[in-house]
Amino acid sequence: MQVLDSKIDTASESFLANKAYMEAYVDKVRQVERKQLETELGYRPRAHQRGKLLPRERLALLLDPGTPFVELCSIAGYGMYDDSDGRFSGGNLITGIGTIARRRCLVIVWNYAIKGGTIDSVNVKKMLRIQQIAFRTRLPVVSLHESGGGNLANTSAMSDPWATQLFVEGGQIYGQQAELSAAGIPQITVSHGNATAGGAYQVALSDYIVLVRGKTQLFLAGPPLLKAGTGEDASAEELGGAEMHATVSGTGEYLAENDADAIRIAREITAQLPADPPLAHRGQAIEPPRYDPDELIGIFPEDRRTPVRIQEIIARIVDGSRFDELNPALDPGTVCGVAKIGGKQVGIISNNGPITPTGANKASQFIELCDQKLTPLVFLQNTTGFLVGTAVEREGQVKHSAKLIQHVANAKGPKLTILVGNSYGAGNYAMASRALKPEFVMSWPSARQALMGGAQGGKVMEIVTLKKWARKGIEPDDKMKQGLAGQSQMIEMGLETISESMFCSARLMDDGIIDPRDTRRLLSYLLDVALEARLRQVQPLSYGVQRL
Ligand code: COA
Repeated sequence: MQVLDSKIDTASESFLANKAYMEAYVDKVRQVERKQLETELGYRPRAHQRGKLLPRERLALLLDPGTPFVELCSIAGYGMYDDSDGRFSGGNLITGIGTIARRRCLVIVWNYAIKGGTIDSVNVKKMLRIQQIAFRTRLPVVSLHESGGGNLANTSAMSDPWATQLFVEGGQIYGQQAELSAAGIPQITVSHGNATAGGAYQVALSDYIVLVRGKTQLFLAGPPLLKAGTGEDASAEELGGAEMHATVSGTGEYLAENDADAIRIAREITAQLPADPPLAHRGQAIEPPRYDPDELIGIFPEDRRTPVRIQEIIARIVDGSRFDELNPALDPGTVCGVAKIGGKQVGIISNNGPITPTGANKASQFIELCDQKLTPLVFLQNTTGFLVGTAVEREGQVKHSAKLIQHVANAKGPKLTILVGNSYGAGNYAMASRALKPEFVMSWPSARQALMGGAQGGKVMEIVTLKKWARKGIEPDDKMKQGLAGQSQMIEMGLETISESMFCSARLMDDGIIDPRDTRRLLSYLLDVALEARLRQVQPLSYGVQRL
């Protein structure tokens, strides 16, 4: 297999400038995560005084020591609603994939230290995404729950125009919990504290429930609502305390003495689950890339018009920098080839420019070849989209691009996507963005997702407006022309803002922004998860596991 050759000089001015740009950007993302953590840590005195562990302290106890935790959707909600700098980001959840009792699990830790761990728009969207991952990966779901239930502060149309829709759509979370259980995917939940209304169902729809003595408060309506609704006086403990549920209602199987004890029990339950399936490549010697993956930090330039040779990125991701490229001479703008990442064979599809009809056909053919072997596909997105113009339309650009979308959507093997740079127009779909449901989508800070570039968007609207005026026989004066230029500028700025990586990640258009230096390690980990999913034995039931 051909060994890729790098032409990058890591001592050059351009490499160092790219590195400085990317490092600063990675730090901007980390700063949001730090702000979120600061909010949680601010709650520590109160939590400890009440004999409770902080959400991340609970997480640390849950995971096997020294094993990785791949956090997903960490900056969800950043800059949205009342968040400005990240302090209220994360959707009141800490989610990711980690190892518990030597089993890979999907982990959901309710961040009660932010807005009481309440359920709002961001929280619902993040939960729905995590459940999608559960269905695709078949990973057991372990939740450490503590939530104030529906966020009552965000209920006006002013504060959240989607509030009612999110309440209605949010009900999918419960339906999907039932479906996960019926699909044979176990859900283990510790009810660490408050679980009112919707929060109560998130606990109650779990297959295993661990209650914490003196801490669990699990009910449809808490004491104030009960008093307001029926006039009945009852303490939280009487209404829905751990002891009541363990000994009277039967809404829980395990009674723990405190947070740490509950997590110990959750680990013991996880240990009863089948072991992770063995992957063929385990134990094989893995060849590192010939070029240091750390150099990925200096490849992408701040100026997006500067072309990037995607083989430079591939050379720092794949084993031995070996890449068997399909037809490199036939439209080098679309790059397809077979390689290994961490010992696992993958088909890589990537871009060195816009996608032409020939490029679309090459990628479609490549997907068929990969499908024949059930080879996972890795998409490295850096495209301004499908090429436009009379020549390509006559070649059948629409049908060839539609065909590529069809191939990507229906490819049988696992799909993983890394957005490294541009991701515009239908190129975003055809290169397996969120819309085409790959198992995971991660972004580099340099990623930009948009229906088109800002300048092009401004220009299109300018042409449309001029045509409208001409149709009405209006001859624009200087003031109108100025207004038109202002409109183009606004559209350009708007598109630039809403395509930015942190803006998109906050709105869950990916599963997180990564440091480019982690790309190889992360892809290898996520490939394991996706390949194990194909081998993971689950036993579906007609209904979910029920408490009788
Ligand atoms: N909606 C909006 N915000 C809520 C909330 C809710 N349902 N429940 C809690 N919060 C907020 C609080 O205003 C507080 O915000 P702050 O950090 O800006 O001060 C934060 O979450 C923590 O709540 P607090 O009451 O200070 O913490 P606590 O540990 O003493 O109590 C609860 C936590 C959840 C037991 C308590 O807040 C409560 O009973 N909430 C209402 C629960 C409920 O009835 N929900 C029904 C929704 S359908």
